[in-house]
Amino acid sequence: MTNGNIILCGFMGCGKTSVGRRAAKLLGRKFCDLDQYIEEREGMTVKEIFAQFGEAGFREREAQAVREVAARRGLVVASGGGTVLRAENVEAFHRGGGVVVYLDAPLAALQERLKRDKRRPLLQVPDRRRVIAQLHAQRGPLYQGAADLTVDAGAPPLAVAKRVAAACRTWKAAGSEQEKAKA
Ligand code: S3P
Repeated sequence: MTNGNIILCGFMGCGKTSVGRRAAKLLGRKFCDLDQYIEEREGMTVKEIFAQFGEAGFREREAQAVREVAARRGLVVASGGGTVLRAENVEAFHRGGGVVVYLDAPLAALQERLKRDKRRPLLQVPDRRRVIAQLHAQRGPLYQGAADLTVDAGAPPLAVAKRVAAACRTWKAAGSEQEKAKA
């Protein structure tokens, strides 16, 4: 298993935080939620950052947080749904033996999980289902491209966390047979 960080990526609502917390426990690692890290660092919620500085202002702060978190080792990190939009974030995640895991959940399940969300700024729109479908189509290839491992996230958080832990325990560095393996 890697000594680097294990970074969970995937769409809003795929379970990065709930799975990450459980996977960290199973692996005896510290857990870091990137959005929470940003909120503590800025003294503002993600919603407030979007309202005051726009999405661009949020992405700047997110990239700074990624640089800081990626400099640490041995964590399980829950990234944000849009963190993979910047290539520099993905590169930072891979540094120091970092393993990026894509939590892949079906679009319909995400639309269902997110239908009453009031917290995520990008979803406070009248045609939410369509916006989710559009973003999901745009970002799917980015998650796949960023990931060393893909885990099926269509199950309760503990079951998915066990899949993540098992996949990471057997993961070997890039160049091995297991690179881009599907768990
Ligand atoms: C975002 C996802 C959110 C948060 C912000 C932007 C996105 O994180 O970073 O609202 O662009 O998909 P979660 O995926 O944890 O909801």
